[in-house]
Amino acid sequence: MKLIDNTILITGGATGIGLALAKRFSSEGNKVIICGRSETALRQAKDSVPALVTHVCDVADAVSRCALVQWLKTHHPTLNVLINNAGIQAHRDFTTDPATDSLDQEVAINFTAPIHLIADLLPTLRLQAQAYVINVSSGLAFSPMADVPVYCATKAAIHSFTLSLRHQLKTTGIRVIEIAPPIVDTGLGGGARSEGTVNHMMVTPDDFAKETLEQLADGKDEVLIGVSTKTRELGEAMFERMNSLG
Ligand SMILES: NC(=O)c1ccc[n+]([C@@H]2O[C@H](COP(=O)([O-])OP(=O)(O)OC[C@H]3O[C@@H](n4cnc5c(N)ncnc54)[C@H](OP(=O)(O)O)[C@@H]3O)[C@@H](O)[C@H]2O)c1
Repeated sequence: MKLIDNTILITGGATGIGLALAKRFSSEGNKVIICGRSETALRQAKDSVPALVTHVCDVADAVSRCALVQWLKTHHPTLNVLINNAGIQAHRDFTTDPATDSLDQEVAINFTAPIHLIADLLPTLRLQAQAYVINVSSGLAFSPMADVPVYCATKAAIHSFTLSLRHQLKTTGIRVIEIAPPIVDTGLGGGARSEGTVNHMMVTPDDFAKETLEQLADGKDEVLIGVSTKTRELGEAMFERMNSLG
């Protein structure tokens, strides 16, 4: 992937992995647009990287998402990179309370919203000489942690969808890339870390972003870092081991 002169949208770019990628892409000479639900978080991100362009959007809300797409078409018609990064993770215990009231939201943010956004932005992406759809899945797409079962299922689903989309778009100028992070020290991956995962597998958002850009520059279709390399290689063979860690 070329790493300069892109116009990039990063969903969920105000914090964590999205912000680390936004900082790095911005410093490499790209226009970076970030969106998220929290205006405060977006403002704080812009305070730390003034070059960022921010836009409030709930990607799981059809009206909000359509408004974002229209705004992009009008104000940023050169958009050539979509990074579907926004995500949430919920613990669900089917022996006590599976918390089904938040189920649809988790599926919508992690799985259906990226697909809607891709479909809505393909006409814009098709206009560019080089364009990229980049979906952020997870090492847990390949071998789940049982205490975040729906989260892992959405990540397996976005992995599967990414394979199909790459196949469908192979004759177009649009490349489809998957980033499968390992455990990254963010609000999602650090503070709300799944029971049983261990600190020595965790990487900082900045180190993660640095290695991600290196792999993107190398032309990888799948960016695999740290433990994600193992889960991708071994898949469900790692399930018992991962879920029995003390
Ligand atoms: N950290 C890890 O260990 C890890 C591992 C594997 C994969 N990942 C994936 O990496 C991605 C980023 O996660 P992170 O670790 O950086 O967590 P994070 O810091 O919590 O970032 C998630 C971002 O998504 C945004 N977001 C959530 N729902 C949204 C919505 N409906 N519309 C727009 N934005 C929304 C949040 O902002 P608002 O709340 O303001 O909307 C937040 O900025 C996720 O897809 C996650 O599944 C993380």
